[in-house]
Amino acid sequence: MAEPRKSGEAVDATPNVTEVDVVDAGSESASVAAIEAPVERGEPILQVRNLVKHFPLTQGILFKRQVGAVKAVDGISFDLYQGETLGIVGESGCGKSTVAKLLMMLETATAGEVFFKGQDITKLSGRALKAVRRNIQMVFQDPYTSLNPRMTVGDIIGETFDIHPDSAPKGERRRKVQELLDVVGLNPEYINRYPHQFSGGQRQRIGIARGLALNPEIIICDEPVSALDVSVQAQVINLMEKLQDEFNLSYIFIAHDLSIVRHISDRVGVMYLGKMAEIGTDTQIYDHPTHPYTQALLSAVPVPDPDAREGRERIILSGDVPSPANPPSGCRFRTRCWKAQDRCATDVPLLAIPERFKGSDSQAAHESACHFAEEKDVVHAA
Ligand SMILES: Nc1ncnc2c1ncn2[C@@H]1O[C@H](COP(=O)(O)OP(=O)(O)O)[C@@H](O)[C@H]1O
Ligand code: SF4
Ligand SMILES: [Mg+2]
Repeated sequence: MAEPRKSGEAVDATPNVTEVDVVDAGSESASVAAIEAPVERGEPILQVRNLVKHFPLTQGILFKRQVGAVKAVDGISFDLYQGETLGIVGESGCGKSTVAKLLMMLETATAGEVFFKGQDITKLSGRALKAVRRNIQMVFQDPYTSLNPRMTVGDIIGETFDIHPDSAPKGERRRKVQELLDVVGLNPEYINRYPHQFSGGQRQRIGIARGLALNPEIIICDEPVSALDVSVQAQVINLMEKLQDEFNLSYIFIAHDLSIVRHISDRVGVMYLGKMAEIGTDTQIYDHPTHPYTQALLSAVPVPDPDAREGRERIILSGDVPSPANPPSGCRFRTRCWKAQDRCATDVPLLAIPERFKGSDSQAAHESACHFAEEKDVVHAA
């Protein structure tokens, strides 16, 4: 993992204010060349700017008319640095999977840009788009449903080579699949077995092998261990960390569980109702959170050590998450925030380093979308 990013340098805390260095891609060949060029460790490989996805809500059977929109992702910006793991956390329905699908180009963005090595991939087509697709792969949440039960493991992993035939000559594909099985800790002789012949953890290893097949630079992991037993989760995460070093990968690691994300992430972004509430290094987010939502989430994480629990406040969030079709005005978190004031209903808080922390070397000096951002001692995972 990218160790330098753990130190909380200023650049970490300001991902959405850095200028994007857009590559001048006059032709498709220039775009492909830019996409295939190496990126230095610690440099941004992916830059997401004001990304929006609204799903239309329609009424009527014959004459459908739009009556509103589910604002699943509503203006999100962040950077992913080469070699790092960016964790994205938030409650179910806050838009995490939609972000993943937008980055994978499985959904079309309503607005905003996603730059991969300076190329806006939302505007690419043809060979350049295919080159990006090869470089950004995904590991899905549920290893039980994401693997076709009628295909052998060899066919599941080998299918990626059919989609990108130039990635491995036909005669070499079987050997490559066996190599991949070995890399993820499975017996290469299992190549002809079917998914039901494997345990949950083994199935997720197959999903990871499939994600690695094309030698991508970024892997987006959408709740990759949420469906697994706790005892197996650590094994899969350890494997992912090992592979990150071995193959020089950058990860976006999505989860609803803050404690899982901490273990693997260099930086963490906390999402609430289609927006990023707070983003920073793992130390900044876990030990110095300034957004009331992050503080509430952390206070809900059980702490086994009674000494660590003592004297800390547990924040109970009241009410349900509002509908993304009709989010609250101003700050989206205000209907559940114990600090909300009049201003919170009218002014949208921007994701930025709070004025009072600017220039400070305090770990609280990281981006937080709250008008009244401040540190609070909460019960959190050790
Ligand atoms: N294809 C779709 N059509 C309409 N609404 C959708 C679609 N996909 C997701 N949503 C809605 O967008 C919101 C965010 O969903 P999702 O990104 O899956 O959240 P998460 O992964 O954080 O649980 C939810 O309210 C969900 O119901
Ligand atoms: S802006 Fe207001 S409502 Fe939103 S998190 Fe901060 S204090 Fe709470
Ligand atoms: Mg999801």
